[in-house]
Amino acid sequence: MTTAAVVLAAGQGVRFNSALPKVLHEAAGRPLLGWVLRALPPLDRVVVVVGRDAAAVRAAAVQWGPDGLVVVEQPQQRGTGHAVRLAAAALDGIDTVLVVPGDTPLLDERLLAGLLDRHAASGAVTLLTATPADPTGYGRVKRDEGGDIVGIVEHRDADAAELAIREVNTSVYAFQTRPLRIALERLTTHNEQGEEYLTDVVGALAGSGVGSVQAPTQAAEGVNDRAQLAVVAQQLRRRILHDLMVAGVTVIDPATTYVDAGVSVAAGAVRLPGTHLQGRTRVAPGAVIGPDSRLVDTVVERDAQISYSVLLEASVGVGASVGPFAYLRPGARLEGGAKAGTFVEVKNSTVGEGSKVPHLSYIGDTTIGRGVNVGAATVTVNYDGYDKHRTVIGDGARIGSDTMLVAPVTVGDGAYTGAGSVITSDVPPGALAVERAQQRIVEGYAERRRRRHEA
Ligand code: UD1
Ligand code: CA
Repeated sequence: MTTAAVVLAAGQGVRFNSALPKVLHEAAGRPLLGWVLRALPPLDRVVVVVGRDAAAVRAAAVQWGPDGLVVVEQPQQRGTGHAVRLAAAALDGIDTVLVVPGDTPLLDERLLAGLLDRHAASGAVTLLTATPADPTGYGRVKRDEGGDIVGIVEHRDADAAELAIREVNTSVYAFQTRPLRIALERLTTHNEQGEEYLTDVVGALAGSGVGSVQAPTQAAEGVNDRAQLAVVAQQLRRRILHDLMVAGVTVIDPATTYVDAGVSVAAGAVRLPGTHLQGRTRVAPGAVIGPDSRLVDTVVERDAQISYSVLLEASVGVGASVGPFAYLRPGARLEGGAKAGTFVEVKNSTVGEGSKVPHLSYIGDTTIGRGVNVGAATVTVNYDGYDKHRTVIGDGARIGSDTMLVAPVTVGDGAYTGAGSVITSDVPPGALAVERAQQRIVEGYAERRRRRHEA
């Protein structure tokens, strides 16, 4: 017995009204098509039908699908039946075909494997059906008095009695290949949309045994517009958070915690409300993230703390601390125990072990050694309007508050800079650099000024 899946991803997605094909819209950090491909059980072959924006959809299929995935092009979208008819050319040697639409991201492997199991024991086709609270838009499953399935009628082609049927077609089917091929060749376009409907195959096979499996509500929800996209994205996020919590991650408020599919969070990490973890972010045990923080493609090591901050392609070492109100941009690296505090921005820079940048600073294109203290309001002046230049601060240096470090510049190990200095040339190790006018005292100034005013 050989089994293949045909995933339908060629459609225009008209109801999305989007420049991006529907199946490439993301929910919880993964395109709809990616969710569907990852829900497939292990199979002998996976065929994806592409049409609209074929190159982009093909690339996503290859990224998210199994090795050896076959892509078939449907240059004109003449309906779901037409799509499967074209895919049939790639089904030689296949006994059973699992058809799955590319817009049903809540499907899971257990459900699809269960459908295939049930199909093995029944006839020409086994449908996955569902009974949603609101069946609007779905094809309705028609049964005879004996309860046998006799066909599917599309919402737009249904009469009042058919519209009253609550059981719907999920567009997930298991077919025997041979009767499927024969029925596909006989499809017509006699319907409201003038398309070849895959649903008509079910009516055609009614005499040869049509079985069904009932899906749990929502499991096969199709995404046809952006309102439905938001609903399934919420479901997917809930699923991700549930898995994390069961695995030992504390999530204080799941309703305000957003974790993408590609993120990994170790047991023993804590997420406070308002946390967004995106892309390939990784969080180690003991780290506390939030409240109100967004991390994209960021690595957080053990026991680090991040609050009210935004981190993009950054990395935070063991026990390091970020925020409140810090912004770590690509290439920012805090070594163990380092700190980027309040209103601090760090870009393409390393803050060495135990070094602190506590308040109101910009650190760009800089290497800071170990045990350095950077006074409040220090700025690395890294950009001359044409090029970016590097600043190097040696181990144990003390940068006075409001120092401007005009790069390229190096402050040696253990050196000091005086508060308010504009440092334009290198400071040798252990030295003090002060760059500001000598303070002047003007005695009696206030009194003289008052008298002049009165006169
Ligand atoms: C389809 C079913 C409907 C079912 C619903 C479940 C048909 C005729 N109708 O309706 O019974 O209740 O799914 O969600 O099958 N596609 C192609 N090529 C095409 C047309 C569509 O690849 O020519 C793909 C789309 O990209 C999409 C999938 O097939 O991923 C389903 O198409 P869609 O237009 O969303 O069908 P529905 O109207 O939802
Ligand atoms: Ca659909």
